[in-house]
Amino acid sequence: MNQDEQKKQAAHAALAYVEGGIIGVGTGSTVNHFIDALATIKGRIEGAVSSSEVSSARLKAHGIPVYDLNAVGDLALYVDGADESNRQLQLIKGGGGALTREKIVAGASARFVCIADETKLVELLGRFPLPVEVVPMARSFVARQLVRAGGTPVWREGFVTDNGNLILDVQGLEILEPVSLEQQINNIPGVVTVGIFALRPADVLILGTPQGPKTLMPE
Ligand code: A5P
Repeated sequence: MNQDEQKKQAAHAALAYVEGGIIGVGTGSTVNHFIDALATIKGRIEGAVSSSEVSSARLKAHGIPVYDLNAVGDLALYVDGADESNRQLQLIKGGGGALTREKIVAGASARFVCIADETKLVELLGRFPLPVEVVPMARSFVARQLVRAGGTPVWREGFVTDNGNLILDVQGLEILEPVSLEQQINNIPGVVTVGIFALRPADVLILGTPQGPKTLMPE
């Protein structure tokens, strides 16, 4: 079973957590499978709040109404992928550049179900370059602070986020203390969002595997 089939399997398994109402929907290739699966039960939900323009377009193409978060208040469920997860279900996210809206919708949701292929589970976060969204004028300043924090930031040139900002991908970090590093990087002026999701980790991780979907809770 290839990686994409594993993603699809995890996405379909997440349908079991859908209880109606308005669903928080993330971004990425795994979530694209979830959106397609959600379309098969769209009569059971009111609609979605989305974490990116790309996901909004896919939801709308399936005839699923997309709401502004400000119009709906807190959500019962958020479903999104990840670039890495440790066994505490602390994540690295933002490979697709949607990390800020992802963190907002995750924060507004009572339950965060993360869906991924089994390669995303790691013992230590940081091999995947850590995305950091920055205000454009702060790019070099933030990069210097990230070097002081022990990383090697690389500007994702040519990429602009849905919020009009830039992304630095920070290589070479071994993230031993995800909560404190998340707070430290969040505190650098000019940082909009760091792609560590540890202050608000996932509540459930569904991994696609050759043996079928595997559900993990935080250890
Ligand atoms: C988007 O910005 C990311 O946070 C995605 O959730 C993450 O990159 C996972 O993407 P895939 O589902 O495509 O692996």
